[in-house]
Amino acid sequence: EKAGFDHFMLKEIHEQPKAYRDTMGSRIDASGERVVLNEVKLTPEQIWDIHNIHIVACGTAYHAGLVGKSVIEQLARIPVEADVASEYRYRSPIITKHTLVIVVSQSGETADTLAALREAKRCGARVIAITNVVGSSVAREADDVIVTWAGPEIAVASTKAYTSQLIAFYLLGLHLAQTLGTQDAAVIRETIEGLKKLPEQVEEILNHADDIKQYAEQIASHKDLFFIGRGLDYAVALEGSLKLKEISYIHSEAYAAGELKHGTLALIEDGIPVIALATQEQLLEKTVSNIKEVKARGAHVLGIALEGNHELGKAVDLVFEIPRTVPLLTPALSVVPLQLLAYYASLALGHDVDKPRNLAKSVTVE
Ligand code: M6R
Repeated sequence: EKAGFDHFMLKEIHEQPKAYRDTMGSRIDASGERVVLNEVKLTPEQIWDIHNIHIVACGTAYHAGLVGKSVIEQLARIPVEADVASEYRYRSPIITKHTLVIVVSQSGETADTLAALREAKRCGARVIAITNVVGSSVAREADDVIVTWAGPEIAVASTKAYTSQLIAFYLLGLHLAQTLGTQDAAVIRETIEGLKKLPEQVEEILNHADDIKQYAEQIASHKDLFFIGRGLDYAVALEGSLKLKEISYIHSEAYAAGELKHGTLALIEDGIPVIALATQEQLLEKTVSNIKEVKARGAHVLGIALEGNHELGKAVDLVFEIPRTVPLLTPALSVVPLQLLAYYASLALGHDVDKPRNLAKSVTVE
């Protein structure tokens, strides 16, 4: 049932190209110029009537929501807030009939996410669910459901469900942009072309898994490490850090690179591993200056960069390159080496990769 892989997690990491293809599936029309999201039944008038969007989820699904926030804001120019469900439901969020609430849950059974959905509906909001389980509680109670076709995810650490959630957000962002006319046809076309290339680009990354394995074996003896990045790279840094903590039990922190000097830089000492994500070219110069700050204090830096980015290559100790894509789509690639890093670090330390201590696959208690 593990299809020749040693663990479900590794199998699920390798299933991502298929999960991307299946989640995009017939949602991109034959011309390749439009997204067709029939399961979102909002009329154009109802879409015009959306004043703001709340994205609510837990854990990894929340991290997908952070990417979703940037994607929707950039493509559809609607203000978006992303919240952790256990905070959202108790903070009296300002929800009106002009608020669209998007809940994200792989299982569709997470107690806090379900409670947030119910609170949003009670306040009169329209709710879209992004879920991997057809017929789950969240799917049954939401107004519209975008199913991620990742297939069953067995490992406690979420991988293909997260990346399929990203694909769902790209499709939704494009759908909203098409309706609202917030992007030129060329931008929509270019983003769709980028989406269609992602599966083979993930395969390219997986072909270099051994480089990450070697690095994972080096960091496995460390007690602490840091992930840094700006913008979308920061959202992915949070996910990479969660994955590593969850299955390798190595302590790590994810920091918005520009925030380092407001406190965390004090923790950087000789030899500490720092993983710097630098896939957003418009922020590159700033990120490189943050890399110099940690290097000056003795950090050993692995850069995650776009292919052929020599500027970053010069600033770090090691580089892992990902294929080039549209800037908005990089999270669907840059997270893959971080998933592999968590997997191989856990393996090197002899932990139970698929069933980490203290955790359950589906959190149905509050
Ligand atoms: O089923 P859900 O997507 O609602 O689950 C949410 C979180 O419990 C889940 O993503 C958790 O953070 C993962 N184990 C992380 O890998």
